[in-house]
Amino acid sequence: MAALAINGGNPIRTAPWIRWPQADERALELVTEVLRSGYLSDDGPMERQFAADFASFCTAAHGVCVMNGTVSLRVALEAAGVQAGDEVIVPGLTWVATASAVVDINAVPIFVDVDPESLCMDPAAAAAAITDRTRAIIPVHLSCAVTDMGAVLEVCRRHNTPRPDDERIWVIEDCAHSHGAQWRLPDGSVRGTGSMGDFGSYSFQSSKSLSSGDGGIIVTSDEELADRCWSLRNVGRARYPGQTPGYGNNYRLTELQAAVMRAGLERLPAEMAHRQRNADYLTRGIADLPGLRPLARDPRLVRQAFYGYIIRYDAAAFDGVPKATFLSALKAEGIFCAPGYLPVYEQELWHIDRRRFPFASRYDPAAADYDPPHCPVAEQASHNEVIALPQPLLLGSQSDMDDVLAALTKLVEHRAELAQG
Ligand SMILES: Cc1ncc(COP(=O)(O)O)c(C=O)c1O
Repeated sequence: MAALAINGGNPIRTAPWIRWPQADERALELVTEVLRSGYLSDDGPMERQFAADFASFCTAAHGVCVMNGTVSLRVALEAAGVQAGDEVIVPGLTWVATASAVVDINAVPIFVDVDPESLCMDPAAAAAAITDRTRAIIPVHLSCAVTDMGAVLEVCRRHNTPRPDDERIWVIEDCAHSHGAQWRLPDGSVRGTGSMGDFGSYSFQSSKSLSSGDGGIIVTSDEELADRCWSLRNVGRARYPGQTPGYGNNYRLTELQAAVMRAGLERLPAEMAHRQRNADYLTRGIADLPGLRPLARDPRLVRQAFYGYIIRYDAAAFDGVPKATFLSALKAEGIFCAPGYLPVYEQELWHIDRRRFPFASRYDPAAADYDPPHCPVAEQASHNEVIALPQPLLLGSQSDMDDVLAALTKLVEHRAELAQG
C-alpha cells in the first residue's frame, strides 16, 4: 500500500496554515484615525510618519512612499538619471519586476549570474558585465539572504571614482524580500538593507513580510535623491519652494495603506524574531535529512529577514527524482511550499516587444546583435534545487514546524516509492 500522499497515502497535514496578511486592533485604530481625519492621501501625516519610521528602521535617512515595489525601482532609476538605452545590471534570479522596471524606462536589463551560496547577485559577474553604457546595478536580497554589498559597492567605487555623476553607476538595492535585514560591511558597520546603495526599494505587496495589500517605498540617505523621488512620484511637482517642477506621474500611496503599514511595522521586530526561531528549528531538523540542506547563513548577516525559508534539494540523494516531483509530493503531504523563481528570462511574464521597448532588443530572439542570457548557477538552483517555504509558514507554532519536518522525513524514508512514481 502506498505511504506517500501523492500516491494515495494519508497526508501528514490537512489543517490550514496561518493566514497572511494579518491585521490587529492597532491597524483598525490607525485606519479609523485616517477615516475620521478625512485626509486620505497626498503626503498626509500617516504616510510621513511611516516613511520616517521605516527609513530609520532600515538605517536610512529618508523614505518616499509609492504605490508598489515595481514603481519604487522605476522611480529610483529615473531619479538616478538612467536614460533610454542605458544598461542596468540585474541578477538572473529574481521576480520579473526587477527587470521589467528597467525595461519600463526603455533601459536594457543585463542579466548576470548569482552566487552559488546566497543565490543573490554575484558581484564578480556584475563587474564583468560593466560596459560604458552601464548606469545602474540592482542587487536583489533574495528570499532570506543578502547580496555581498561590500563587494558590489567596491565594484562601483572602482568604476565611479574618476567619473562625473552622469557617467557613474548607481546602486539600487531591491529589498522586496528583506524587510528588517541587517548586513555587516567590510568597515564593520552594520547597515539595514536599502541603506548601503544609493537607493533601497521595498515592496509591501500582500505576500511580503510587511504589507498593506500593495505599496512600496524608496529609502535613501541622500536628501537630494529623496526630493527627486518625491517629485517623480507626485506628478513632477516641486517638493519645496524653488525646486523646479519636472516630469513625473501619480505613484502615490494612500493614508489608509500607510496606517496599515505603521501597525505592521510595530509588529515586525517580534514577527522577525518568531520567524528566526522557527527557521533555526527547521535548520536543526533538516541537518539530519540526507539530500536536503538549508540555504547557508552568511556570518555577515547580522539580522536575517525571511521572505522564504530555502531548502536546497539534491536529486542524487533521491535516486534522481526531479525537484518538481519532490515538490508535488511535499505539497500532497499538506505542506505550504513553492518552487522559487525561474530565471527572469524564463518566466512566462517576461515579454519583450521591440515595438514598445526598442532598446531592449537584446532579448528579442530576432535581434542578431546579442546573445540570449544564460546564468548557469541561477538555472541549476532554480530548476533543480530550490524549495521555498513561504514566510507566513514561519509565523506558525513549533508543532507546524514539526509537520514540515515530519513530511520531509517521510519523503526521505520513502524515497524508493517516490522514485518508482
Ligand atoms: C524581488 C522583487 N522585486 C520587486 C517586486 C515588485 O513589487 P510589487 O509587487 O510591489 O510591485 C517584487 C514583488 O513581488 C519582488 O519579489
